[in-house]
Amino acid sequence: MLLPGLWCVMESYVSEVRGETVDKPKVVLGVSGGIAAYKACELLRRLTESGHDVRAVPTASALHFVGAATWSALSGHPVSTEVWDDVHEVPHVRIGQHADLVVVAPATADLLAKAAHGLADDLLTNTLLTARCPVVFAPAMHTEMWEHPATQENVATLRRRGAVVIEPAVGRLTGVDTGKGRLPDPAEIFEVCRRVLARGVREPDLAGRHVVVSAGGTREPLDPVRFLGNRSSGKQGYALARTAAARGARVTLIAANTGLPDPAGVDVVQVGTAVQLREAVLKAAADADAVVMAAAVADFRPETYATGKIKKKDGQDPDPIVLTRNPDILAEISADRARPGQVVVGFAAETDDVLANGRTKLRRKGCDLLVVNEVGERRTFGSEENEAVVLGADGTETPVPHGPKEALAEIVWDLVTPRLT
Ligand code: CTP
Repeated sequence: MLLPGLWCVMESYVSEVRGETVDKPKVVLGVSGGIAAYKACELLRRLTESGHDVRAVPTASALHFVGAATWSALSGHPVSTEVWDDVHEVPHVRIGQHADLVVVAPATADLLAKAAHGLADDLLTNTLLTARCPVVFAPAMHTEMWEHPATQENVATLRRRGAVVIEPAVGRLTGVDTGKGRLPDPAEIFEVCRRVLARGVREPDLAGRHVVVSAGGTREPLDPVRFLGNRSSGKQGYALARTAAARGARVTLIAANTGLPDPAGVDVVQVGTAVQLREAVLKAAADADAVVMAAAVADFRPETYATGKIKKKDGQDPDPIVLTRNPDILAEISADRARPGQVVVGFAAETDDVLANGRTKLRRKGCDLLVVNEVGERRTFGSEENEAVVLGADGTETPVPHGPKEALAEIVWDLVTPRLT
């Protein structure tokens, strides 16, 4: 007797031998009318070559940039922009219903607005309303359009509902302009699609919650031109902010010297020093359900600040720099929770005895979770990837394998959510 699971495996094998596409994940590639539409051809190629059955659904404007013949030839499916073709197959409902993933690349400001407001005046917007699978938007537009409050609110709405909206890249735009708004590299969009397909539909499980995330590294000024700082890039904190927003949270991101663009739909407070960071965190934490301290906070600051540039004096040794302790923000907010049941998470970057130091630090700081990772000159700082163990005050240990910082961020929220009361 064949077990049902084994039967499925055999059936899928037989289909593959016959060259059928029955078991291939079904991806709808929506393309809206922007110059970056040509880059979606490469995305389509990557998707089909990696075993996905892709149906391209361009808008009428997208066809001004890349014609229907290209989409049809690359996908192996007929292409239409309207709901009026092949009406007997009810395409405006079927395409979305059968999809495992919808990715819109490029997503113009107009398309994002339609999706956020549920308009359905062509095949792509109908598909977005009927799809019950994960949806990824890869926006591309001019910086002004991206930064406009209307677009930002639409992006926040889509993220609150569980859609993944990838941050546009910074670089050359159409014509001579440069700035934020470039379509991210097709390889990057492809990776996001693969991750989202593997993860499936996710409920916005942080909806109605306020979370505070600190990111970056503090700088402690010595004089108007010099400071004591550290090598934190802020990317892990930004990934935490983005993923929390995607899971429906209201997010306050306290950013220390990151130079990174603000994630859409997130309130960003810029700070410089540890003292400023403390003030901003305490203020935002007052009504927060969770606080994640991903920032690298300087433990010490110069005791005195020279208002003029410190000059070297010929024949004299330099004056020593006298340091004074900075407040320990994580220990403070852990000991004195602004709300009952508030979940507090710390990060610990260690170079030696990583786990042993992490356990001691978790006890010392009094937080609920501590994300411990090993750092070194070429590890973690500034990179797009991370590897860690999340220690719980309840004795739990969750290893997180090497992978994108967003994956670690998702696991942190997975561990925070059940702890929220
Ligand atoms: N942290 C903080 N305030 C400080 C120092 C650190 O809130 N003055 C937070 C960091 O944001 C991080 C956690 O504490 O979440 C651990 O930071 P780390 O620098 O590893 O800890 P330290 O207390 O500085 O420990 P040590 O220098 O002994 O390794």
